[in-house]
Amino acid sequence: MRVMWLHFVFLLTLLGATEGAWIGRQMRKKLVQLRETQSFKSFYTRLGIPKDVLPFSPPIEGYITQPLDHFNRRNNATYRQRYWVNEKFWQHHEGPVFLYIGGESSVSQFSVLAGEHVDLAQTHNALLVSLEHRYYGASINPDGLTLEAIRFLSSQQALADLASFHLFISQKYNLTRQNTWICFGGSYPGSLSAWFRLKFPHLVYAAVASSAPVRAELDFTAYNKVVAESLSDPLIGGSIKCRNAVVEGFRAVDSLLKTGNTTQLERDFSSCERLSGPDDYTEFVSNLADIFMGAVQYNGETPTSDVRKICQLLTAVGLKSAYEGLKAVNRMYMEMMGMNCLENSHEKSLSELRNTNLTVVGVGERQWYYQTCTEFGYYQTCEEISCPFSQLITLKFQLSLCSQLFQVPPDSVRQSVQFTNEFYGADRPKSSRIIFVNGDIDPWHALSVLKNQSHSEIAILINGTAHCANMSPSRASDPPSLQKAREQIAVQVGDWLTAARRRPEENGY
Ligand SMILES: *[C@@H]1O[C@H](CO)[C@@H](O)[C@H](O)[C@H]1NC(C)=O
Ligand SMILES: *[C@@H]1O[C@H](CO)[C@@H](O)[C@H](O)[C@H]1NC(C)=O
Ligand SMILES: *[C@@H]1O[C@H](CO)[C@@H](O)[C@H](O)[C@H]1NC(C)=O
Ligand SMILES: *[C@@H]1O[C@H](CO)[C@@H](O)[C@H](O)[C@H]1NC(C)=O
Ligand SMILES: *[C@@H]1O[C@H](CO)[C@@H](O)[C@H](O)[C@H]1NC(C)=O
Ligand SMILES: *[C@@H]1O[C@H](CO)[C@@H](O)[C@H](O)[C@H]1NC(C)=O
Repeated sequence: MRVMWLHFVFLLTLLGATEGAWIGRQMRKKLVQLRETQSFKSFYTRLGIPKDVLPFSPPIEGYITQPLDHFNRRNNATYRQRYWVNEKFWQHHEGPVFLYIGGESSVSQFSVLAGEHVDLAQTHNALLVSLEHRYYGASINPDGLTLEAIRFLSSQQALADLASFHLFISQKYNLTRQNTWICFGGSYPGSLSAWFRLKFPHLVYAAVASSAPVRAELDFTAYNKVVAESLSDPLIGGSIKCRNAVVEGFRAVDSLLKTGNTTQLERDFSSCERLSGPDDYTEFVSNLADIFMGAVQYNGETPTSDVRKICQLLTAVGLKSAYEGLKAVNRMYMEMMGMNCLENSHEKSLSELRNTNLTVVGVGERQWYYQTCTEFGYYQTCEEISCPFSQLITLKFQLSLCSQLFQVPPDSVRQSVQFTNEFYGADRPKSSRIIFVNGDIDPWHALSVLKNQSHSEIAILINGTAHCANMSPSRASDPPSLQKAREQIAVQVGDWLTAARRRPEENGY
């Protein structure tokens, strides 16, 4: 099943800071596992030390008790929210506070150990804090995923959590107005970063919002349009020929599905079980499409996210048909992911999304799907001609999950999306001191702020980079466009901190 690639805050890190995305669940789970092991490995390798020896005092893990419902004082229920603190760089009294905001997955200690914000914290002697999002990771009550309990999951509640966390940390560390707060986040937390500044300007002086899809959209057709463009982009190893091969390959798959005899497809694409009916068909083509969506969104960040390699397979000389190319891509993907078969059962997908057991590590699929139904939409459909995949990937199919899982009817999803845009200002938020950073091959950039809104609400669009690329620690292999963006962010953050120091009474406004 596809639950969309949004953001995926991978434990971040050395490889790729945080990010999410929406890709199918299966792929996402694997990627998270991969990232987790890799981030540990590369963290230690880079420092040249044996595992389980931290070169400095480890980050502090703590919990803050929060109201379950910030907007109804008669509800006295609470939950415990996890945070991390790294004091290593902090200059007491005057040093700023850098807040890293968590999103739709668990947040590990790496959230205060690695990444662009950590490099900046070192430069500016900042206290590093991060806060896991309510209902994800360890920040959830045992019954939190039931239909009754999940009602208090929303971006508005999350922002209120951030506000009370601000107070909590300020008291714990004896902070004053001298201690300027700047918040950071990528993907959905990128939106939260911008919105925290927008709605609580007295608490946070400035925000960096990376790959933030601040405009909610029910039918996010632009996603696959950008995927198609990226597949044709020679800069990253794509070509028109490659994109056309994708189109043709999916056409062949669709016409086989139309006959209703799916025996050949099941065999050719190693389906775990028989495809029984339209819902499985959609599941299946979504899983195939996910390989391409993930490759574009995370191009260069993971072994399977490599547009160049995929396009080479699809356009190889001697290939008998585009269908054969598609098979080869699927095979390569399954091999890299260590999968024996492709799980295409819609029934299984549904029961996973219905599962109310907690998963403490990784993406909260059920929770995130709930947020798409109640706030953002973001459905990556394929009903427009610009989409290179199967037209079986419909809005109707994705909306039907909202009804089935959460009893949220389509009209309600539509209205919620509209409300979200009215509440936060969509891609024209009226705020100040926010940097919106996007990569132009990342499909999510289509929902972000791409133009300067004012002299201090700034947009940076990076040529040729994918989702949240700027959030990783800098690497020698970074393209010049990315290096330039990092520099621009660093200079701007430095300028804002200088301005705040000069006029502390304005801190926050
Ligand atoms: C919460 O409120 C209910 C009554 O509304 C009360 O019975 C209960 O003791 C309260 N719980 C706590 C933890 O204060
Ligand atoms: C904050 O101030 C209190 C009282 O002055 C002191 O005991 C405590 O150690 C301080 N905490 C920090 C983190 O500086
Ligand atoms: C379905 O397709 C397979 C392979 O293409 C073929 O061997 C089989 O006879 C077909 N079955 C039916 C019922 O048409
Ligand atoms: C949820 O957890 C319970 C208790 O550990 C277990 O028996 C059950 O199989 C789990 N359900 C699913 C769907 O994983
Ligand atoms: C946007 O603002 C930044 C910072 O003030 C500036 O450097 C850049 O030139 C502006 N871009 C445009 C297109 O005006
Ligand atoms: C992006 O970079 C490529 C290669 O470095 C260059 O050819 C292209 O013109 C750039 N595009 C923009 C919009 O700057």
